[in-house]
Amino acid sequence: MNNNLFPYRHHIGYVDRNQRNGHRSIVVWFTGLSGSGKTTIANALEEILFERGYHTYILDGDTLRNGLNNDLDFSKEGRKENIRRAGEVAKLFTDAGIVVLASFISPYSDDRTWVKQCVGEDFFYEIYVDTPLEVCEARDPRGLYSKARAGELSDFTGISAPYEEPVAPFFIVKTLQETPQEAAQRLFKELKPLLKNN
Ligand code: PPS
Ligand code: MG
Repeated sequence: MNNNLFPYRHHIGYVDRNQRNGHRSIVVWFTGLSGSGKTTIANALEEILFERGYHTYILDGDTLRNGLNNDLDFSKEGRKENIRRAGEVAKLFTDAGIVVLASFISPYSDDRTWVKQCVGEDFFYEIYVDTPLEVCEARDPRGLYSKARAGELSDFTGISAPYEEPVAPFFIVKTLQETPQEAAQRLFKELKPLLKNN
């Protein structure tokens, strides 16, 4: 921690941007196993919001790990730092007036709690994409589960690394019971009143 920093309080703030945009900016945080459907549902929700004029942006694990976070591995520490940076970026985007849709496995509840504190409790909505491991493994869209089973990929969530389920998520998606579009529509209904400016 550097004690010689003095962040400037900018004249145009969150409230000004929210008023101009006509909606609040919040963080919708999707957590779940690899292949559970986080990215797909976040995209379906973004389409719904975008069509209705909301200012949105998706922060996705695979994308951030390809750039900003390309120095990080999948160890507990690597994931912690990945989620810390994602949380800080989400906070900046929220301040910029954007509805952030964040899709990260984020397997450790402490890391998710950290993000909640970072962006502020009133701005953080945790969505649990609750797809059983067997189903994610059967889908195996990128062949990662078979690589992990074959021992070619270490620290793989659900196989050789833990996933801690959310205890009290804002919203749960059971992907065996509804399509990504249905889940996104249902989620939009829940979020709509929360996106209204106060
Ligand atoms: S984390 O745990 O939040 O830091 O992970 P995240 O940044 O969301 O990145 C997950 C995507 O990385 C790919 N991948 C792995 N996932 C889990 N464990 C291991 N070891 C691993 N190696 C690569 C995979 O494509 C994940 O994407 P999703 O969309 O979750 O399947
Ligand atoms: Mg994904």
